[in-house]
Amino acid sequence: MKQKILVTGGTGYIGSHTVVELQAAGYEVVIIDNLSNSNEAVIDGIEKTSGIRPAFLRLDCNDKEGLRTLFGSHTGIRGIIHFAASKAVGESVGKPLAYYRNNIVTLLNLLDLMPEFKIEGIVFSSSCTVYGQPDILPVTEDAPVKPALSPYGNTKQISEEIIRDAIHAGLPFKSIILRYFNPIGAHPGAEIGELPNGVPQNLVPFLTQTAMGIRTELSVFGNDYNTPDGSCIRDYIHVVDLAKAHVIAMDRMLENKTDEKLEIFNLGTGIGVSVLELIHAFEKGTGVKVPYRIVGRREGDIEKVWANPGHANSVLGWTAHETVEDTLISAWNWQKKLRERGIQ
Ligand code: UD1
Repeated sequence: MKQKILVTGGTGYIGSHTVVELQAAGYEVVIIDNLSNSNEAVIDGIEKTSGIRPAFLRLDCNDKEGLRTLFGSHTGIRGIIHFAASKAVGESVGKPLAYYRNNIVTLLNLLDLMPEFKIEGIVFSSSCTVYGQPDILPVTEDAPVKPALSPYGNTKQISEEIIRDAIHAGLPFKSIILRYFNPIGAHPGAEIGELPNGVPQNLVPFLTQTAMGIRTELSVFGNDYNTPDGSCIRDYIHVVDLAKAHVIAMDRMLENKTDEKLEIFNLGTGIGVSVLELIHAFEKGTGVKVPYRIVGRREGDIEKVWANPGHANSVLGWTAHETVEDTLISAWNWQKKLRERGIQ
């Protein structure tokens, strides 16, 4: 058995997949989640996938005393992977204070408590949103951080700065910041996956719900961008590939594989895929047609962004392996599983 790790937001989409990979690598996982955008049944899905039931406590990271009690009772936690955050770009524009509180105060609470409980490292979930529209593609980690287009994006930038300043001040922990591109898909066992509340804002859950007939048609937000087919380009990465990078990052910090106190890595495939290409890849992979219609641009969308994952490839020894087609098939299998269970 390796060490004990706290995963905040561990019943969420990326969190649950990461818990499974941590368990497979021998880590003992403690999950906390306020269940604001997930539910406790995800713990069953994790257990069915990995064969191990993780410890779970319903707790909000805004509750500092609750965190202190947790660290006091679950002694020996050596690392934290901090997923717990709000992530809806549009919602953040209407509720900025909730976003700052939920995404910034929670991080401050964890960082405050880490020295007290001798927690050695924190992996932080950041986003390619910090690059805005990069001037050079594929984008590397040293590309400039552009002014954020939403409070959500700003919380990721501010969080990165808080971690940087804390490490610079000599606080006794390490951090690895992971900048995710667009995670999609689900675990091959289809016991865990993405389960958005209400109408999905992100492309793939909307697409699979449309293919299932839950939504009548998918709106493609714009075909007049400066891209080969006019639709936006993103770097879609299988969530399991993404999850595995977290295990490598945690190993790296706890096994002292580096002297660096703070490192930043892009997690993407390095391949840009347009919205229309993604729809066609889904149709080819699954044989299911997706009714779609071109509509106007969505405010705040970046035209094109994809990763240069070379730094993660060479330093972490990590590469995204899954093709976009296989990844979309996994998303479809998850959607079908939800239907079988009568959830969606
Ligand atoms: C956004 C954020 C990202 C955040 C992620 C999680 C930005 C620039 N990106 O990613 O930081 O981590 O959400 O919520 O703020 N699309 C359609 N029809 C739809 C839905 C989406 O055409 O119904 C298109 C979008 O215009 C975009 C692509 O699909 O080009 C992907 O959109 P989405 O899945 O929402 O992710 P991002 O906007 O890239």
